[in-house]
Amino acid sequence: MITVFGSINLDLVTRVVQLPRPGETVYGSDIAQFPGGKGANQALAACRAGTDVRLVGAVGSDDFAALALSELRDAGVDLSAVEVRGDTTGVAVITVNEAGENTIILSPGANLRGDARQISFDAFGVGDTLMLQMEVAERETFAAAGAAKAAGAQVILSLAPFVPLAREAFSDISILLVNETEAADLVGHYGIAGSGHDSIARALAESLDLIVVVTLGAEGAVASDGTKETRVETLPVEPIDTTGAGDTFAGVLAAGLDAGDDLKTAMRHAAAAGALACTKSGAQPSFPTGAEIRHALSVA
Ligand code: RIB
Repeated sequence: MITVFGSINLDLVTRVVQLPRPGETVYGSDIAQFPGGKGANQALAACRAGTDVRLVGAVGSDDFAALALSELRDAGVDLSAVEVRGDTTGVAVITVNEAGENTIILSPGANLRGDARQISFDAFGVGDTLMLQMEVAERETFAAAGAAKAAGAQVILSLAPFVPLAREAFSDISILLVNETEAADLVGHYGIAGSGHDSIARALAESLDLIVVVTLGAEGAVASDGTKETRVETLPVEPIDTTGAGDTFAGVLAAGLDAGDDLKTAMRHAAAAGALACTKSGAQPSFPTGAEIRHALSVA
């Protein structure tokens, strides 16, 4: 079983020709609303990949909450530990350019009222997974990590958005997921030497004593446990909107590991799913099912 403790947002998305520079005003398309939030996205991606998933988090008492939870509800994610806390649901204001790249401004709202005590740690054991990101209160995130590890579960952390954490913060984390930028920021923060994705992944894994997975966009992903690297490629796609691709990778990776796949197989499926998630607008509507991932890999 996978439990995700994390953010639940409504994404307000406009497409632009070019992302605005500071001080610049640009025209955007009509606003589209999509359910999002890194926690909710990871939960949905893992569920669509075929795993039982419970999401723990908080929404506001406003009208945005129902829409933010709609895809999760339809997919069958267990939402019994999602609570209404305060007035405002988290909102992400997203611009997407013609290359599918984005900028995201996050107004966290109720996400910062989420509490690790909402999680039933009694139900955790060996073989269970807790997934975390950095869009809810940091103190609660690491309280959850400690309790889950003590109960024997594996803890997967996506360091997104990037936070320059002390090394000790990772003591209860089993697998750290970062994209290229986050990996470079972390290496810079610790003053670790290393150039090239493999050597950065290895240096971080050695330094933090965990498995590090670095997602590399169109180049796939690389993982290191500090002694050896595992590399996978991804599917070639024409990106329309990359929003949520990293969350898709995370959810599908966790689903694969939960199902007993080895790391390389789980990464291969995760990278393919991340690519497929770039081929449609919006985060959650673009996430593939397990059957769609297997089909895309079989015809690649
Ligand atoms: O990772 C993508 C997500 O980041 C979006 O869905 C948005 O809600 C922000 O949390």
